[in-house]
Amino acid sequence: MQDCKKSFSVPFTHKPLMTLNKTDILPMNLFGALMLRAKAVAPSNIAIVKYWGKRDEVLNLPATSSISITLSKLKTEVCVSFDENLGQDEVFVEDERANEKTYGRVVAFLDLVRAKTKVNMFARVESFSNFPVGSGLASSASFFAGLTLATANALSAEFTFQELARIARLGSGSAPRSLLGGAVEAVAGTSKDGSDFEVLQILPEERVPFALLVVMVESKGKAMSSRDGMNLCKNTSPYFHRWLEYNQELVDIARRALLDGDIKTVGEVAEASCFAMHGCCMSAKPPLFYWAPNTLSVIEQVFEMRKEGVLVYVTIDAGPHPVLLAPFDLVPIVRERVSKQKGVLHIIEERAGQGAKVL
Ligand code: PMV
Repeated sequence: MQDCKKSFSVPFTHKPLMTLNKTDILPMNLFGALMLRAKAVAPSNIAIVKYWGKRDEVLNLPATSSISITLSKLKTEVCVSFDENLGQDEVFVEDERANEKTYGRVVAFLDLVRAKTKVNMFARVESFSNFPVGSGLASSASFFAGLTLATANALSAEFTFQELARIARLGSGSAPRSLLGGAVEAVAGTSKDGSDFEVLQILPEERVPFALLVVMVESKGKAMSSRDGMNLCKNTSPYFHRWLEYNQELVDIARRALLDGDIKTVGEVAEASCFAMHGCCMSAKPPLFYWAPNTLSVIEQVFEMRKEGVLVYVTIDAGPHPVLLAPFDLVPIVRERVSKQKGVLHIIEERAGQGAKVL
């Protein structure tokens, strides 16, 4: 027997995770009603070439391709039980009922899966992350990748891998990338129905030649959800269209650099994509700042180290926490320098890890 907690190596001190007794499909619940249950674990991922903007809101299709590194430690476990006895969907995050927004997103996702699979049972969804959710560390990516795998498994639905990726995308645009390990590209595609959207592995985890340091900084929390932020940029930033063109060029450069093991170019592209995305946010009306003052201090520290010849680069998702890229042998030096910075709360040493799996 396995529970949600034990499969993690936890980089954070966290509330105890709840216990579920079975991980495989249970045909019946205690009252003799049909119940289909499965559990999956999915890693978070950090984009080195960002996805920011949608070309179709309903299908949640990205307006630009993106590239990310799947992380090895930051994970979310998702347990799903479709149960004939339930009168509505139930969603729990860290043992607490999900807020209205999260609940709405999960129910919308389940409705789409129910429509595809012709299953009409409600579900109970429970998720546990070993890192703070909703703070710009791609918790929606790990959550929806885990939910997709657990749901498909609970329903014994026979989806191809790319179908799974498209389903995960309906929950969160970055989630499909968490299905694969290593360096992963999400190809935006151009078809109206999204049928050419796909995720591809560029490098397996053992060939990604750098570490990632997730630097948790003191802040007031995330400014705005990614979805709302993307819409705001699309509707009001004068740079939005240029951002899309520019980012697509960066995808091609980053893919080549990853295949060549060229850390310098990967780092330069990661910073270019990050600052262009955040520039787009800052130029929106009203201006959207995901950074905290401490974010900027860490960026300055990275630039300082680079002037001294240390190969280290920075990227930031839609939140205040910088993620640093550096060759493995430089991690102790970088860690030592950044940990002395005021406002740095915690540093997690990460590397590329495996994709999501069913437990
Ligand atoms: O998947 P979403 O809707 O949470 O958007 C992710 C947006 C970024 O994290 C900022 C960039 C990315 O590609 O992951």
